[in-house]
Amino acid sequence: MSQQQENKGVPILTIDGLSGTGKTSITSQIASDLGWRALYSGLFYRYLAHCQLKQRYSVHNGVEISHVIQLELTNLTCRVNPAGEVTVLAGNQNLSHILSSETVGRAASILAGNQAIREQLLNVQRGALISPGLVAEGRDMGRVVFPDATLKIFLSADEEVRVQRRYNQLNRCGNDVKIADVAMMQASRDERDLQQAYQTLDEDGVLTIDTSRMSIASVKQTIYQALHQLKVIDNLLTTDAHA
Ligand code: DC
Repeated sequence: MSQQQENKGVPILTIDGLSGTGKTSITSQIASDLGWRALYSGLFYRYLAHCQLKQRYSVHNGVEISHVIQLELTNLTCRVNPAGEVTVLAGNQNLSHILSSETVGRAASILAGNQAIREQLLNVQRGALISPGLVAEGRDMGRVVFPDATLKIFLSADEEVRVQRRYNQLNRCGNDVKIADVAMMQASRDERDLQQAYQTLDEDGVLTIDTSRMSIASVKQTIYQALHQLKVIDNLLTTDAHA
């Protein structure tokens, strides 16, 4: 069965891009404007990396981690407020600070190179699809997880802009860091992420948006225009509420 048949007519918007391109804020605001579910797939990799750092399991040649994947990932909840502050809860444990840290980000990027884990994550990610629609953000949403998505977006941004955004985000989440360290860590994470073959770069049919000098409101407006042209939404939404 193709992924489109499995979609059962529920629209899917995929938003891929490197860290600091605005994926998380844009995804959360669009999901809230449209009343759709949001899937933040990077969190899954971060949570698994966190469990690995806590030595809850080890990954050797794709060791079975399905108990963590099936029982725990589906219970993670994530909220993003209009200022871009992310709150992640696992049960009643608040993991926002730890999961947003660069230590976990780096471990997540390494773990993401494990193909067996990526495959085990497919079902959990596809299981997030629910009516009336899904906005899914990550790195491989358009190419691998939802290849028949209704609209695929790839966000890009200049490196300095991405570093500054990541620095602001880390500080908002209570991580005390220096901008030079963020730049260094981001460069090595980018290099590893880009080497892995799962990125949705300039594939055919992907709408690429350079967010370097755009407000969140204008990025959303561009996406709403595309959804309107595809007749997924009736009206062009005004985006001032979260700007
Ligand atoms: O988007 P993020 O920074 O939260 O993601 C953390 C890491 O997880 C990132 O370095 C790459 C990896 N990742 C991935 O491989 N595939 C995804 N769909 C999402 C994230």
